[in-house]
Amino acid sequence: MIAWAPSEAFAERIEHYRERVDARIALELGRERQAPEPLRAAMEYSVLGPGKRVRPLLVYAAGELWDISLPCLDAMAAAVELVHAYSLVHDDLPAMDDDDLRRGRPTTHRAFDEATAILAGDALQALAFELLCEDPALAGMPECQVRIISLLARAVGPAGMVGGQLLDLQAENEIVTEAALEQIHRRKTGELIRAAILMPSALANLDAARRRELDTFASEIGLVFQIRDDLLEIEQDTTTLGKNAGSDQANNKATYPSVLGVEAARERADQVYAAAMRALDSFAERASGLRWLSDFILERSY
Ligand code: IPE
Ligand code: IPE
Ligand code: MG
Ligand code: MG
Repeated sequence: MIAWAPSEAFAERIEHYRERVDARIALELGRERQAPEPLRAAMEYSVLGPGKRVRPLLVYAAGELWDISLPCLDAMAAAVELVHAYSLVHDDLPAMDDDDLRRGRPTTHRAFDEATAILAGDALQALAFELLCEDPALAGMPECQVRIISLLARAVGPAGMVGGQLLDLQAENEIVTEAALEQIHRRKTGELIRAAILMPSALANLDAARRRELDTFASEIGLVFQIRDDLLEIEQDTTTLGKNAGSDQANNKATYPSVLGVEAARERADQVYAAAMRALDSFAERASGLRWLSDFILERSY
């Protein structure tokens, strides 16, 4: 059981949750898998670098809705961060966004080489699914385990992140409608955030109405995350971001500020955030962690 009281601020649990997910990832990376060097080193560099761990925190905050046991949440949190890290490594490759700075350090293909970065990304993704399949805490609930694995697989597959990444590349140098841009953002970024929030619910007894509300919250806050990301590229400096500010402009990306203008992009983020918050109403005090993270997602400075 999770030792927390609703009155206790989620902020006080963040460091504990970050330590748990990093420890679980380190444990998996440390297991004997005969990963040759520098593959193992590139995996570790990519996933245990100084990221915010927002997706694992969403897993833990969603788990607080129903007191899901921490060992079950650790597996989901680690898997989500592993696939996120893989997506960043590939996103930065020369064939994609061609970036050389990530989390304040050289991108994986710069710190190692391109082939090692591609393979490290592949290996991080496979490890995420291996971990979920072999996790002892989930093994006793095979039907829930399959639902969790399916949620993550769909989120990062052709209907989700990878499809969204292709649409994002196709939209470079093109004039796109707001509706098309919204689809890109929901898919390339939103779907994985949605999966992070929905995976713990596979272990809960939710009625259809609550499930719909949680899904609405998860979808909307995923979109807010990427609108904010677009704005940060314009408003923030490279050192604070830990990645190159202005990369979107250099690549002529379709972004909320480029399509709507900065002011309208901010307003859109506020509107989508408000819709996300309304969907959480019936979860009352239990959703305080998700609300705290939503505020961070809307207002974050990096
Ligand atoms: C960056 O995600 C990539 C996007 C989907 C916008 P984060 O801002 O969560 O990156 P890290 O994990 O903190 O580095
Ligand atoms: C990242 O989108 C989406 C994924 C990695 C799947 P961006 O390309 O806009 O994010 P940053 O700015 O490189 O982090
Ligand atoms: Mg990209
Ligand atoms: Mg990028």
